[in-house]
Amino acid sequence: MKILKTIAEMNEYVRKNKKRGHSLGFVPTMGCLHDGHLSLVNAAKEECAKVVVSIFVNPIQFGANEDFDKYPRVYKKDIRQLKGTKKVDCLFMPEKEELLPEGFAAAVTVDNELQSVLCGQSRPGHFKGVTTIVAKLLNIVRPEKLFLGQKDFQQTVILKKMIKDLDFDTQVKVCATVREKDGLAMSSRNIYLSPEERETAAVMYKALQMAESMIELGEHEVEKVVNEIKRKLKEANVKIDYIDILRAENLAEVSRITDEVVIAAAIIVGKTRLIDNVVVPVK
Ligand code: PAF
Repeated sequence: MKILKTIAEMNEYVRKNKKRGHSLGFVPTMGCLHDGHLSLVNAAKEECAKVVVSIFVNPIQFGANEDFDKYPRVYKKDIRQLKGTKKVDCLFMPEKEELLPEGFAAAVTVDNELQSVLCGQSRPGHFKGVTTIVAKLLNIVRPEKLFLGQKDFQQTVILKKMIKDLDFDTQVKVCATVREKDGLAMSSRNIYLSPEERETAAVMYKALQMAESMIELGEHEVEKVVNEIKRKLKEANVKIDYIDILRAENLAEVSRITDEVVIAAAIIVGKTRLIDNVVVPVK
């Protein structure tokens, strides 16, 4: 596994591989890797000749009062894990100054309702930071396929829109959320949880599953389903940031469930904000 730190080295790597006709699968990450990330690596290896992973804790996607400073940076462990898969050909690990040098002033944004709902409401500016950095990474890596996890559902919808609107020649592959045994979605932020909080956090997926069953059993009123989720979460004493049910395709608001929907939740357990979702096809 090559470890490259500069854009110039990446340009050279990408040029060589394109010349040899190798397709590139790209997995962008912020490190502190877990099995969710590794499932993206596996999917990329299945579909592409070469797999490129990036690790970059992107400062411009964190709000002023968020966890940028304490975000876990465990680079040695990440490198060991990626090498262990034997599936990663290149790891791109730029320093902040390489991707965002002093004076950097550009921004890429999907400026519509996609970024004003769900996490967009509680994390203003977050998605602009994501789209700006992912646009830069796509320009550098020029992958045939980009692999993203469904856990960040809104991010996947926004990045697909950016890729379509800006004509990036990259296909987006969304891979299923990987879960702990009790259903908690794997996330780098789970390590912030104390053992008791960790136990409590499992309620989020249970509440989402309950909501999924209600819809499958014929409940079509969004308000009723959302109220049931809230009831279950309140019983577990967790703070709710949002619970929403939106059309999965375009995150549009619905009052009755008639198309495929995403049930999305963000909760705060202790001091940790966690997100999760399930997508429910309507028969
Ligand atoms: O999902 C993430 O880890 C980040 O938002 C991403 C896509 C790597 C951009 O910094």
